[in-house]
Amino acid sequence: MRTIQSIALIAGILSDATADNIPRALPNAPNGYAPANVSCPAGRPTIRSAETLSSNETSWLSLRRNHTTQAMRDFFGHVNISNFDAVSYINRVANDNATNLPNVAIAVSGGGYRAMLTGGGALKAFDSRTPNSTAKGQVGGLLQSATYVSGLSGGSWLLASIYVNNFTTIGDLQAGSTGDAWQLGRSILQGPETGGIQLLSTADYYRTIADQVEDKSNAGYNTTLTDIWARMLSFQFINATDGGPNYTWSSIALEDNFSSGSIPMPLVVADLRSPGEKIVGANSTVMEFSPFEFGSWDPTIFGFAPLEYLGSRFNNGSIPANESCVRGYDNAGFVFGTSSTLFNDIVSYVNRSGLPSVLENLITDTLNHLGKDNQDIADYVNPFYNYTQNTGLTTQTQVLNVVDGGEDDQNIPLHPLIQPSRHIDVIFAVDSSADTPDSWPNGTSLVYTYERSLNSSGVGNGTSFPSVPDVNTFVNKGLNTHPTFFGCNSSNTSSPTPLIVYLPNYPYVTYSNLSTLTLSINNTERDAVIQNAYDMVTMANGTRDADWPACVGCAVLSRSFERTNTKVPDICNTCFNRYCWDGTLNSSTPAPYEPTSYLTTLNNTSAAGFIMVPNTVLLALGTVAMTAMAL
Ligand SMILES: *[C@@H]1O[C@H](CO)[C@@H](O)[C@H](O)[C@H]1NC(C)=O
Ligand SMILES: *[C@@H]1O[C@H](CO)[C@@H](O)[C@H](O)[C@H]1NC(C)=O
Ligand SMILES: *[C@@H]1O[C@H](CO)[C@@H](O)[C@H](O)[C@H]1NC(C)=O
Ligand SMILES: *[C@@H]1O[C@H](CO)[C@@H](O)[C@H](O)[C@H]1NC(C)=O
Ligand SMILES: *[C@@H]1O[C@H](CO)[C@@H](O)[C@H](O)[C@H]1NC(C)=O
Ligand SMILES: *[C@@H]1O[C@H](CO)[C@@H](O)[C@H](O)[C@H]1NC(C)=O
Ligand SMILES: *[C@@H]1O[C@H](CO)[C@@H](O)[C@H](O)[C@H]1NC(C)=O
Ligand SMILES: *[C@@H]1O[C@H](CO)[C@@H](O)[C@H](O)[C@H]1NC(C)=O
Ligand SMILES: *[C@@H]1O[C@H](CO)[C@@H](O)[C@H](O)[C@H]1NC(C)=O
Ligand SMILES: *[C@@H]1O[C@H](CO)[C@@H](O)[C@H](O)[C@H]1NC(C)=O
Ligand SMILES: *[C@@H]1O[C@H](CO)[C@@H](O)[C@H](O)[C@H]1NC(C)=O
Ligand SMILES: *[C@@H]1O[C@H](CO)[C@@H](O)[C@H](O)[C@H]1NC(C)=O
Repeated sequence: MRTIQSIALIAGILSDATADNIPRALPNAPNGYAPANVSCPAGRPTIRSAETLSSNETSWLSLRRNHTTQAMRDFFGHVNISNFDAVSYINRVANDNATNLPNVAIAVSGGGYRAMLTGGGALKAFDSRTPNSTAKGQVGGLLQSATYVSGLSGGSWLLASIYVNNFTTIGDLQAGSTGDAWQLGRSILQGPETGGIQLLSTADYYRTIADQVEDKSNAGYNTTLTDIWARMLSFQFINATDGGPNYTWSSIALEDNFSSGSIPMPLVVADLRSPGEKIVGANSTVMEFSPFEFGSWDPTIFGFAPLEYLGSRFNNGSIPANESCVRGYDNAGFVFGTSSTLFNDIVSYVNRSGLPSVLENLITDTLNHLGKDNQDIADYVNPFYNYTQNTGLTTQTQVLNVVDGGEDDQNIPLHPLIQPSRHIDVIFAVDSSADTPDSWPNGTSLVYTYERSLNSSGVGNGTSFPSVPDVNTFVNKGLNTHPTFFGCNSSNTSSPTPLIVYLPNYPYVTYSNLSTLTLSINNTERDAVIQNAYDMVTMANGTRDADWPACVGCAVLSRSFERTNTKVPDICNTCFNRYCWDGTLNSSTPAPYEPTSYLTTLNNTSAAGFIMVPNTVLLALGTVAMTAMAL
């Protein structure tokens, strides 16, 4: 019953509803959100060491290669590298030794709707299916050329919106009508408008969610606020009735377009809060969800569990004979809800807020209660319990406390992409972090990832990341006002290190610095933020720099050139001179960072930092959460 009380609390804060006036009206999906015991497959599921990639991933990669090779031929068919025949180069390398072809990845940061829509605009520009994205000045086809796309928190909402809906396009998500996914005009806390596939009033929305979460609880699983949050989010992103309670994240691996290697692999990131700890520090364990697995490359776990059977009571790496195999635990919404447990840090910061005391007491009481009962984290059955290949604390508890992937301040999900076994050459890193007081990025996330990689005997564990400057230098040198490359000179690093193409959120046609806790956004403003990001990653369709598409191509090819000892084309040297961080610092305290839009702002979009939250309580919560974390 605790879940219903939690919903009632949220509902009550919002709309004065109480548990009593929420009708019990809707049928429950019998097993939708509730995990269920199933008979184990012939080879019982096991935990594997993170020493190598999984066999699933390795065989998938060999299928993916042909598709990315063709996509790169197409990409360089319209992205011209002056005086260099890139298509012939790709053909030649593919024939000679395909290992030397470029390995491309895209990472989408956290930051709520701001990050989801900014990431969405970037992917729209990178997607060759977008009309005109393969015309002059455009970079369409980069998505098809990518092997991996990672997302965290708001970035994971984007991945879910695309992948759970059969690799749909951003354009199709935008084209939906009332009730469809991405109709974000009503607050997450009220539920989508009734219409189309959504049949629910707000009260029925709460009731449906309560029923779904209660099903899980009745099946014997611990539930937390994250389950409620996950169900709420699912209604916004999964284009199915009742938030698609039957969708699992592992089912992505079974979609034809994924299993054939036709589309990139999505990777979602979350963090671990160590047993007994309240703080998620820079050294916390980073967890990864692939369509195949859940686990970590970090020394604390250094293992992966088969995602489909998450929820099973593994012991020492296998499921004991007297335990069932469990399926349905990896509900798709639970995965992206876990990656975005925004509520987690509020407890420690709420007293600092300037809330009216009545509200402050209400929130403090609520959250203290939730904190006390560990309702502020995602509670996972620990598949690494007693996994004796590892002696860390994590193996000694039966539950894992999994939290928002940005809480370790690595708000761009680079961790899965800098694992040496993945051999990634270039990462296009879309950063919508709210670092500055006005919610613009200032490089903080890259600094954290860089510093973590230096801890080579500990959490660094074989990862290599290019050096980046301090955040003052980022702001003083304007490295956050346009794309910037890091790691251009790979001879500076001893092990293979990906080139980072940093793509910071920056205003072109609208002030896209929405508050992280924006819980509703109308279609005009949604589309403006998407358009803004499209301009951000195409540099205004190549009008800010006509060489930009070529420079993107050069970034893609750079590490491959090194492996094949190919002379770097002149235009690429021009690009690297223009976009690579030159290694110099200016660490003096900068003036407040307040960018002005590069192009004329679109009509009907608000000014900087507009927030559309249904009431002052949430506004306050948002401010608190933003202070707590630069998500
Ligand atoms: C979920 O799956 C179950 C079992 O297959 C089915 O009975 C139920 O109708 C499904 N629920 C929804 C909302 O699709
Ligand atoms: C992953 O690999 C295992 C072992 O080869 C196989 O049984 C399983 O079906 C694969 N899973 C997927 C989703 O392809
Ligand atoms: C990949 O492409 C090559 C050459 O076009 C072809 O020989 C091979 O069969 C393809 N592999 C797969 C798995 O499709
Ligand atoms: C292909 O290239 C890789 C890396 O450059 C190298 O390690 C490998 O030996 C090459 N394979 C062949 C068959 O030449
Ligand atoms: C695509 O480009 C054509 C020709 O430049 C233009 O007329 C059309 O409006 C563009 N379509 C979109 C969706 O931008
Ligand atoms: C998924 O999308 C592909 C490509 O657009 C399409 O061929 C396929 O029919 C779709 N699958 C479903 C289940 O809608
Ligand atoms: C969402 O579902 C509706 C109704 O089934 C459909 O018309 C629409 O195309 C779907 N949108 C996406 C993005 O899949
Ligand atoms: C992370 O671990 C390293 C090495 O053990 C230590 O020097 C550093 O202080 C730790 N950082 C944090 C934030 O705990
Ligand atoms: C840990 O695993 C070992 C080996 O399977 C087993 O003997 C032991 O009982 C397990 N410990 C616990 C606490 O379950
Ligand atoms: C639920 O949480 C309790 C307390 O943390 C733990 O002992 C128990 O194993 C958990 N149950 C499940 C199914 O994870
Ligand atoms: C950069 O962002 C961090 C938070 O991520 C903040 O503490 C710092 O003051 C910011 N610095 C500048 C120069 O913007
Ligand atoms: C990473 O950590 C694991 C577990 O501690 C260890 O076995 C492995 O050797 C480490 N890898 C590197 C490259 O340090």
